[in-house]
Amino acid sequence: MALSKAQAVLAAFLALFVFSVVSSDPDPLQDFCIGDLNVVPGINGFPCRNSSTVTVDDFIYSEIVNSSNTTNINRSGAIFGTVRRFPGLNTLGLSLARLDFLPGGFIPPHTHPRGSEMVYVEEGSVYAAIVTTDNRLFARVINRGEVMVIPRGLIHWQMNVGRTNAKIIAILNSQFPGIQFIAASMFGSRPEVPSEVLKKTFFLDERTIEQVRSKFV
Ligand SMILES: *[C@@H]1O[C@H](CO)[C@@H](O)[C@H](O)[C@H]1NC(C)=O
Ligand SMILES: *[C@@H]1O[C@H](CO)[C@@H](O)[C@H](O)[C@H]1NC(C)=O
Ligand SMILES: *[C@@H]1O[C@H](CO)[C@@H](O)[C@H](O)[C@H]1NC(C)=O
Ligand SMILES: *[C@@H]1O[C@H](CO)[C@@H](O)[C@H](O)[C@H]1NC(C)=O
Repeated sequence: MALSKAQAVLAAFLALFVFSVVSSDPDPLQDFCIGDLNVVPGINGFPCRNSSTVTVDDFIYSEIVNSSNTTNINRSGAIFGTVRRFPGLNTLGLSLARLDFLPGGFIPPHTHPRGSEMVYVEEGSVYAAIVTTDNRLFARVINRGEVMVIPRGLIHWQMNVGRTNAKIIAILNSQFPGIQFIAASMFGSRPEVPSEVLKKTFFLDERTIEQVRSKFV
């Protein structure tokens, strides 16, 4: 069946709409746009620095040469190379992170609302998991050299199940993907999520709620 002109136009608009919803950060209109971090970001990123002041160092990021600090309750650490630390990423729809884990180290369940992620295990073995919107768990141990992809916005976590330290390099398709920890958002927000809501959501009593909250002060 041939489409009428109106149907064809409608189909084209729908295709455009779907594309703009599923794509990552918007496409740039120039070769590069080293973000000027001294200016308040606009609707979609930072204004470009004067390109005649740009040097090779604006394209290089060195903060991940050393391990992140793993001396904390999670026994893990992260260094986030988002546009705010690496302004050369501005408008490119990319960012990265280095994740370090002591044995048993853990990055608790979280989401990146604005980016899909690929995690490359450079050292060690981690149990890595994704939970989908229909509550299916996809999880297994990934080893040195393997990569897992985590679709945008889905809940995921990683835990070092090896006897040695583990190291992951993550690449995300947003210059500022955001990170939201599930437990910290629910039990550590300011002002607090009302106890009544937590009771009804997690079926916990007041005392347990206070116990969990105390971990996030
Ligand atoms: C960019 O920098 C160059 C060299 O310092 C200068 O001549 C030029 O006026 C600047 N352009 C803008 C838009 O500020
Ligand atoms: C990495 O660690 C070395 C040795 O402690 C230090 O000199 C260097 O400044 C660190 N590099 C970065 C990017 O933090
Ligand atoms: C790592 O973090 C801990 C806890 O905040 C702190 O006491 C320690 O000095 C940090 N270590 C380094 C090397 O920055
Ligand atoms: C540990 O994980 C929690 C999420 O449950 C997070 O809020 C917190 O920032 C993490 N702590 C460190 C030091 O990484």
